[in-house]
This record gives sequence, structure tokens and C-alpha cells, in this order.
Amino acid sequence: MKQPKRYLITSALPYVNGPLHIGHVAGAYLPADIYVRYLRSQGKDVVYVCGSDEHGAAITLRAKKEGVTPREIVDKYHAIVKKAFADFGMSFDIYHRTSSELHHETAQEFFKVLEAKGAFTKEQSEQFFDEDYQQFLADRYVKGACPKCDYKESYGDQCENCGSTLSPMQLIDPRSTLSGKKPVLKSTTHWYLPMQNHADWLRTWIKEGELDGKEHHLPKDWKNQVLGQCLSWIDVGEGLQPRAMTRDLDWGVKVPVKDADGKVLYVWLDAPIGYISATKQWAKDHQKNWQDYWQSEDCELVHFIGKDNIVFHCLIFPIILKAHGQYILPTNVPANEFLNLEGQKISTSRQHAVWLHEYLEDFPGRQDELRYVLCSILPESRDSEFTWKDYQARVNNELVAILGNFVNRSLVLTDKYYGGVVPALGTDLESAVVTDLRAQIKASIEKLSSNLQRYRFREALAEAMNLARIGNKFLGDTEPWKAVKTNPGLASDVLHLGVQITAELGIALQPFLPNACERLHRMLNLEDAGWEALGHLNRIAAGHQLAKPELLFQKVDDEIIEAQIAKLAKQTKPSNLAPVKDEISFDDFTKLDIRTATILEATKVPKADKLLQLTVDTGVDQRTVVSGIAEHFSPEEVVGKQVSILLNLAPRKIRGVLSQGMILMAEDAEGKLTFVTPQEAMGNGCTIR
Ligand code: 2FM
Ligand code: ZN
Repeated sequence: MKQPKRYLITSALPYVNGPLHIGHVAGAYLPADIYVRYLRSQGKDVVYVCGSDEHGAAITLRAKKEGVTPREIVDKYHAIVKKAFADFGMSFDIYHRTSSELHHETAQEFFKVLEAKGAFTKEQSEQFFDEDYQQFLADRYVKGACPKCDYKESYGDQCENCGSTLSPMQLIDPRSTLSGKKPVLKSTTHWYLPMQNHADWLRTWIKEGELDGKEHHLPKDWKNQVLGQCLSWIDVGEGLQPRAMTRDLDWGVKVPVKDADGKVLYVWLDAPIGYISATKQWAKDHQKNWQDYWQSEDCELVHFIGKDNIVFHCLIFPIILKAHGQYILPTNVPANEFLNLEGQKISTSRQHAVWLHEYLEDFPGRQDELRYVLCSILPESRDSEFTWKDYQARVNNELVAILGNFVNRSLVLTDKYYGGVVPALGTDLESAVVTDLRAQIKASIEKLSSNLQRYRFREALAEAMNLARIGNKFLGDTEPWKAVKTNPGLASDVLHLGVQITAELGIALQPFLPNACERLHRMLNLEDAGWEALGHLNRIAAGHQLAKPELLFQKVDDEIIEAQIAKLAKQTKPSNLAPVKDEISFDDFTKLDIRTATILEATKVPKADKLLQLTVDTGVDQRTVVSGIAEHFSPEEVVGKQVSILLNLAPRKIRGVLSQGMILMAEDAEGKLTFVTPQEAMGNGCTIR
């Protein structure tokens, strides 16, 4: 792969229908910001663009809810979101808006080129229509039960429970989100993207990393879950289907061709083009050429997004870019999974969230603490969880006790013994110790760089912190505070190196903790240096005067954490948990014979989407159980699982198969299922009571 000359990095344009929460930050923003800071530290030519996504039903529905115009909604939340990003220290080169004139022009121009090239088909079809509101009901304007998981509150475009992408017509018992009534069908014409015609090149591009017969990227660098989602879109079930690129709405980018009155571009056509218009605006403001980024093979394009945006960035937008003919395609789309909060999904509607702007108000000057904690728990390969207790533990036990402690000891001792003048490195410290120290630092930095290049920010941060751990161990082993009396040459050698390691940390941690690193550089009385300077342990010359040391981080007290936990509990609205059933007697309960068991075999029950036929070792016997979990688990996934089984349930025939017993499942308010498994593996047949 040739080295790119330029980088174009994007973070998903957030819908400005509400404030940002930490789940957004951990999904598409913090990882991108770390990556961009790393690239800049290497002196790379990089442009980092983002902006507000101001169209689509997310906005218009919010406006309806608040009883104001869409314009008022986007103006209000654009300001809040933009400020929160700025206060948090997101280093966008531009934060643009899709309601801007430049964006409307850019998106319309793009549409016209695609139309002229025959990239669309025009089709007439029946669509849901709300007669009370005289409006077509696209996407989120219709709700109903998800055909895949039966979640009753699914939107017409996507089920937030199982993540399936849908079209409104697939919903069971559809209802209008405007009037709440059952919609009628009415005919309308739209421009469709015939995605099915692009399956072959998309498959080769994503799976083999090959585009137009040339190597484009290394598929092994793409995350498994991104590859998996894309390939299943292309090859599972009906495969790719035509998708409407226009909507009957009055808020959005007007469709710029004739016979399109009252129609706007589909928000998922318009929003990604927002990356292009943002780049154009940036180029205008800085006398640069936007085409050097979007239309040059020398540029590498990387989209940072959350997992619900994968199809749009890996399939739809690439089809559009390629159909246009002059644009490059992303070399990677390192999508993140979701961040949960205190054991539950983050939910804007239930107010179960930590809002970024509120964190910044409640924790002034502590941006880096949040960056640190979120980076440590990024949902890079699976969903992860933020809790306030964990936040406190990571700040106190890692930032304060490991990093802060090392920096403080090195700088305070140098200040105390040498008036802050960095001593020379002599020969009192055994050369083997110095060599070993250098080797350890070098190895950690190599891992740090390689993890950053592969978008593994959690591991990268752990390696950067490892430098402080190495430093702490070095101070602990050599004890300069004792040596200063008995062997002053040794103490000065150690502190020379202690200060050098501190300077290494200033570069290595800069992408993660930019504010702390700025403070650190101030204490070191040193200019920030680029990545090139890392790993040599020689940034500071002997005789260099340091500034007065201060504490790099402060502990977070219990009261602060308790206040946040209480605040969250107070603001979170209850979820739709099942009501408590009628009381039963103890005798009733003892009639249930529940045991531990292991699933030995699993197959799908033919012609029954929901059912798996399981062979289960119950300890007592091996028996067949039919379980309604096929939409949640594949047969392969469940084989070998230890589960709980209700043994003495009367046998009954389900789809011709005699089911003897019932596997117990836990189900949350959103219909998510999980097995009830003993905490530790047990034999089969153990009683549960
Ligand atoms: O999911 C969202 O919040 C979308 N507004 C993301 C858009 S990303 C890009 F296409 F602009
Ligand atoms: Zn669903």
C-alpha cells in the first residue's frame, strides 16, 4: 500500500435534535479526535471535518414535539452541540451545517450529476400517507412492530431494538407518528438508487480490498463487525434492494430536477455529502483546494461512526461516490459499538444519559478525565459500559496514582534537589539498567504507534500509560530519594531519566490527553514536539530549567460521584418493565423443578422463524426442547451454553416436535433476550431455587 500524502477524516454529523451524550462521544468523536491528533503530531496533512445534520425526520419530529419550527430546533441545538464540542476540545478543522447554502448547492449539484449519469431509477409506488396531516409518512414518521424482533416501537426505517434496517411497509400494525392513526396508501414517485446493481463491486471492494482492479485497502484492517455487517447486507436474504433517495417532505434539500415539487433529498443522501460541503467551506476559508482531498488518489478517507451508521457509510455513500465518478472511497470505516450507562442502554427519550455539556459544567477543566475514561472503555469491538464508580476509580487509581504520581515525583524531586535544573546523565547508574529502560520504553512506543494506526485506541492508551508504569517502577527500584544522600550521582542519573520519561509522556499522551499534556509541557518549560521525537529519551538537555511543578490531576471525591449517581437516577424516566404478577404461595413455587443444563445440539425448526430445536443434557436425561429464540441466537451460538431449564413443564407439541421443558430466558423492556446461566459453570441437573 502506498503512503497517503493527505488524510481526510470525518466524524458522523450528529442530528441536532437534542444535546450530545457520552455515548455519542465514545462512538464517533473521541476516537476520531485521537486519531487526528496522532496524525497531526506526525506532521501529516490532515483535514478533520464534521458538522450538524439538520435535515430528516429526526429534526422535524422534534420540532413538532416542541411546538416550534425545524429551523428553530436546528438553530438551538446546533449552538449547544457546537459549543459542547468546542468546550470538550474536539479538534475539528471545521464544524459545518447541512442547512448552509453551500451544502444545499453541493448536494443538489451532486444529485444532478448522478441523475445525468443514470444512477437513479424513477419509480412510482404506494406509500403510507396520513390523511389528517395530508403528509406522506417516510422513515420515522411511521411506527409499528418490527418484523424481525417484534419490538412494538420500531421506526419505519430502523428498529432500535434489533438494529435491523427496515422500510415502512415492513412494519406490522403501522401507525402514523403524526396523528397516531393507521396510515392509508397513496401513490407517489421517487428516485431510487438501484443498490442491487452494485453488489459485485461492493463485495470485491469490501472483502478483497480491491477497487477497479487495484489494491485499495487491507480488509484485515477493517473491523470484523463492520465487514460482517456489510457482507450480510450484500449476501444474506434478499440482498441489496433499490432504496429511495428522495422524500415527500418540506424540510431538507429540494430535489433539483423537474417534476419534483414538494420533494427533498433523503437525509442519508444529503448528510454524507455534508462531509464534502464542510471540506469545501474549510478550503475556502483557508485558501486550500478541497479536491486535493476528495478527488485525489493521494488522499486517505476515514469515516468514524457508530454501528447504526455502517450501511450508509460502507454501502450507500460509496455507491454514490463511485457513481459520480470523481471521488475517492473510504479506506476504512472503524465503526464503534454502543456504550451503555450504569447497566442500561443510553436513552435520550428516557433521559438515561450523561450529557456532554452538563459534564463540562459539573467538571470544569476536567475534559481530559472524561477523555481518559471513555478512551479506556471505548466500545471498539463490543458494547461497553460507563459507570460513575468506574470513572472515579480510573481517575483516582490511574490518572492520579500512576500518571500524576510519576510526573509529580520526577519533577518535584528535580525541583527539590537541583532547583529544577535538569541534571546530566552520568555513569553512576548501571548501563544495563539504562539500556533495559530504553528498550522497554521503545517497545511500548512501538506498540502504541501500531495500535493507533490500527484504530485500537483502548490498547494504544494502555501502552501510553505503560510508560508511566515503567517510570514508576524505575523510580521505585532506584529510590533516588534515598540515593541523593548516599550516592548523589545515582540520584541525578535517575532523575535525568525521570524527566526524560516525563517528556516522552508529553508526546505519547497528547492525542488522548491534550490539556494535561499542555500543562505538562508548561511544567517542563518545553515546546510540544512531534511524534518523531518519541522514544529517544533525549528531549531535554542537561542544564535545562524546569518550571515549578504542579499536580497534573486531582482525585475525584466520593461526594461528587454520589451526586452524579443521584442526578442520573432522578432524571431517568422508568422503563417499560413488565408489571409484577399476582402473588403465589411458597408451595406453588416449589412445584417448579428448575435445573442447570447444557445445550448439546441446536437446529432451526423448518418454516418457523422464531424456533430452535434443542437437545439438552439436563443431568437427569437428554431431551428435546423447542425454544422461541431463533431470532436472537443462531444454532451455532447456543451449542455448549449452560442454561436453566424448567424440567417438569407438561410436554407439548410445537410445530410437530415434542418439546419437553422450557429454557429460561431473561428479557428486558426492549425485548432483548439472554440466557439465565449460573455465575460459575456447574454440573448439569443442579437444582435452582
Ligand atoms: O445517526 C446520526 O446521528 C446521523 N445524523 C449521522 C449522519 S453521518 C453522515 F452521513 F453525515
Ligand atoms: Zn427489531
